[in-house]
Amino acid sequence: MLFSQESNKQLSLINPDYIEGFLTHEAKWANSHNAKKDYLGCGMLYYALAYMSKAHVCVCLGSGGGFVPRVMRQAQKDLNLDEAKTILVDANIGGYGTPVWLSPDHFFREEFSDIEIIMDLTKNVARGNPDWKIDYLHIDVDHSFDGAHADFKNYLPLMNRPGIITFHDTCGKLPCAKVIEVIKEKGYEVVDFKEFGAGVAIIYLH
Ligand SMILES: C[S@@+](CC[C@H](N)C(=O)[O-])C[C@H]1O[C@@H](n2cnc3c(N)ncnc32)[C@H](O)[C@@H]1O
Repeated sequence: MLFSQESNKQLSLINPDYIEGFLTHEAKWANSHNAKKDYLGCGMLYYALAYMSKAHVCVCLGSGGGFVPRVMRQAQKDLNLDEAKTILVDANIGGYGTPVWLSPDHFFREEFSDIEIIMDLTKNVARGNPDWKIDYLHIDVDHSFDGAHADFKNYLPLMNRPGIITFHDTCGKLPCAKVIEVIKEKGYEVVDFKEFGAGVAIIYLH
């Protein structure tokens, strides 16, 4: 079907009602990703990275409201990818907020029931899954320098090539932000959007 300029005025790639009704709905901490109501904020970036790379295996380390895994999974669904999966790892130990989705009837659990949830420490999950080939990884768990650095190091061997990592909280308020400097010093390609939300860096592995 061809679209005229006139009909294009009515069309949009994004659906604000869907964003507000599903992707940010009851997603506590979506604001730390610069998202609010019908605005996806950095979620647009996460979506684009998963979509662009046709990421079959997306893993999100830590999510209090389920915002990031929802967006990852949405990109996979929109692509109709065969055997694609999104996994959320969260041990519910808090530190910087605890999950709001623990109840099985929480909106996130009911509407995104195809997101696999592993409730364990990230280091245990990495150790227990040495064969994982992760296309897109998001790191947002332990916000200490050592904890976030360990997450990066533990999951690096589990990354596919090319592979993409997004690393949250780079704005400088939390110790984990310094890990990005170490990653850059090691020669990895990094783009740090530290002014958006709580800041997010992309690490491109190839
Ligand atoms: C709440 S998120 C941080 C807020 C975040 N920006 C978001 O989008 O939700 C951090 C999560 O990581 C979890 N967590 C902290 N340390 C962890 C670890 N070592 N392994 C697994 N989960 C952990 C906590 O239970 C928490 O739910």
